[in-house]
Amino acid sequence: MNLSTWQLKLSSAGLCGALALLASSAWAQTPAPALSPLDARMKQVLADPKASAAAVVAAKKVTFLCEVCHGVDGNSSKPDVPNLGGQNPSYLLTQMDKFSRGLRHYQFMEGLMKLLSEDDRINATVFYATKTVKPATTATSAAGKELFAMRCSMCHGEHARGNENTPRLAGQQQQYLKMSVTRYRDRTGERIYEPMSTMTAQLKNSDIDALTAYLSSLE
Ligand code: HEC
Ligand code: HEC
Repeated sequence: MNLSTWQLKLSSAGLCGALALLASSAWAQTPAPALSPLDARMKQVLADPKASAAAVVAAKKVTFLCEVCHGVDGNSSKPDVPNLGGQNPSYLLTQMDKFSRGLRHYQFMEGLMKLLSEDDRINATVFYATKTVKPATTATSAAGKELFAMRCSMCHGEHARGNENTPRLAGQQQQYLKMSVTRYRDRTGERIYEPMSTMTAQLKNSDIDALTAYLSSLE
């Protein structure tokens, strides 16, 4: 290997490192500002076992509307409807907010979320965040695992369980994952989040198949 190949290797490693750093420090950890007061209230409820238990009971007033699609315990039985069980609470709250403010597009959910009060959203979030997700498929993919470690784990976490501002992908419905990644990549307008569009721009359809098979098999 000559010097210039080394330099090339080094500089591309440097670029990846810089991108990862940028991703983890700036993109991945910036909370949505408009949501912060509601998010703070939700966290207070989650931190208090009594308040959490009350929220789970109160959530029934709302979650009966969600069951038909998202399942009784947040495990969806429809491949194109996401599981909400075990999803990270701040992410759930953010997405409800995005639907109701027209920052994420799916007509039915946009209409429904506008009907929920702040308390309804907190209660539903606490309800789903405290449920457990069952892995959606069992067929995994070694290629998907490798791609995930290289391109996605820096934000979604080593085991794809996400973190405060990043969704859990482990155990999610495969068809839903495929549809979502494709929408970010192709910038179709339903999902708007620039870092996800950037990070998926180079994925081939076969990469997306492999990634999502791996992810939906995880616990
Ligand atoms: C008629 C079926 C249907 C009902 C009823 C429904 N949803 Fe949804 N929901 C969907 C679909 C489909 C999506 C995915 C939309 C998309 O991105 O294309 C979704 C997405 C979501 C998301 C985003 C999840 C993620 O991983 O990004 C949240 C949060 C959510 N719904 C909450 C609720 C709540 C709370 C209720 C009840 C008050 C509810 N939904 C009722 C079909 C439904
Ligand atoms: C820079 C950090 C970052 C990287 C890298 C990243 N993601 Fe994401 N991802 C996010 C965030 C934050 C969201 C939520 C964005 C939103 O509100 O739409 C998200 C959303 C998603 C969703 C939607 C989940 C749901 O429940 O609707 C999928 C699927 C996803 N990412 C898959 C991937 C895959 C696969 C990769 C690697 C190719 C990847 N992400 C790389 C930060 C990242």
